[in-house]
Amino acid sequence: MTIAKADTYASTAARDRYVPRGLANTHAIFVARAEGTHVWDVDGKEYLDFTSGIGVLNTGHRHPRVVRAVHEQVDRLMHTCFQVAMYEPYVELAAKLCRLVAGSDDGTQKAIFLTTGAEAIENAVKIARAYTKRPAVVAFSGGFHGRTLLALTMTSSSPSYRQNFGPFAPDIYYAPFPDEYRGWTTEAALATLDQLFSTQVTPEQVAAVLIEPQLGEGGFVPAPPLFLQRLRALTERFGILLIADEIQTGFGRTGRMFAYEHAGITPDLVTMAKSLAAGLPLSAVVGKTAIMDAPKTGGLGGTYAGNPVSCAAALAVLELFESERLVERAAQSGIRIREGLLRIQSRVPQIGDVRGMGCMLAIELVKDRSTKEPDADLAQRVVDASRDRGLLLLKCGPHKNVVRLLPPLTATPEEIVRGLEILEAAIQSAIAG
Ligand SMILES: Cc1ncc(COP(=O)(O)O)c(C=O)c1O
Repeated sequence: MTIAKADTYASTAARDRYVPRGLANTHAIFVARAEGTHVWDVDGKEYLDFTSGIGVLNTGHRHPRVVRAVHEQVDRLMHTCFQVAMYEPYVELAAKLCRLVAGSDDGTQKAIFLTTGAEAIENAVKIARAYTKRPAVVAFSGGFHGRTLLALTMTSSSPSYRQNFGPFAPDIYYAPFPDEYRGWTTEAALATLDQLFSTQVTPEQVAAVLIEPQLGEGGFVPAPPLFLQRLRALTERFGILLIADEIQTGFGRTGRMFAYEHAGITPDLVTMAKSLAAGLPLSAVVGKTAIMDAPKTGGLGGTYAGNPVSCAAALAVLELFESERLVERAAQSGIRIREGLLRIQSRVPQIGDVRGMGCMLAIELVKDRSTKEPDADLAQRVVDASRDRGLLLLKCGPHKNVVRLLPPLTATPEEIVRGLEILEAAIQSAIAG
């Protein structure tokens, strides 16, 4: 059989013919190459990339140190499967992540590697259930934890993710995320959680509470530090494990290595992925030793989990965080971007809210600042007009009216200024219609 070749596969016609519509494409462009904060499409048009591949490229596209580490690893060893035969980069990376979470090499933490964020979430729940011998998990409204069935069950950031994919996993309960802009104070959210414990599931049945310290897909809403502190105290009181989903917030994005640090709390388990390996598939669960050791031998693993090339990339990423002071730079860039967004907001009444931590910032677009009625059409027009002017952005939020900025943490001050200029021009043209 001969397979007919298209003139080019880099076309929306070919994409629509061969790829299902279930995958949404924010930008109808085909990228040919990328470097740092910049990408070029197949027609040679250049864009500033303030999406970082959904928060994956905190060290930018193809950082030379990451590229070199990947090449060197590919030349030595690409795969054995860690369960079959071990290799050093896996254990070295585990040691480094344990040190990052514990603050020192005190032996209190262990780490396991998986391939995707969803897999890290699923494994964190398995580990929590094995340790506590309890079935239930509490997740928060607006949370996004992945697209596999258990992770999807705990996801409620948009009905488009859940569609008719059920039945969903049992023993998952939902509590409101404290979203002050939308009227959910820390007190109200905690009171509803209390009510959940007295009406639907007793705390003694709950293995874990799973939370993003700042909602990602759910609209870039940071959890107030007081909420996280009270949640930590509550979970400790009932022997419930606290899982921090740092998959989007992690690795410096919020101006701290992990976003939970802003609240001064220590979770029992931390899930990581995305920017861990700068674009290679790698995720992790890091947690307290006794908890991580609860599943018996053979209970955890995965064929590609902790692939040596991904581990080599992640080791280079961690070195870059130190040598390029990326956490500090995230905090500084975040201040610059927030000031820029607040300036734009002062001229644009349709920006209802500017929010986020560190370099994980967003604007919420509304029809009216007092009613806060979401304006999803305007958000889409802003994203489209930004792209036409050479800036790639993403939306988020349950109403799809939040425009988020996720530039690489390596972005220069000039690139940030340029991105904000494009954004403001795009907003003005989107409003003008
Ligand atoms: C907070 C959070 N958790 C989990 C996931 C799922 O990660 P993955 O798409 O790698 O499965 C995502 C992905 O966007 C995320 O933002």
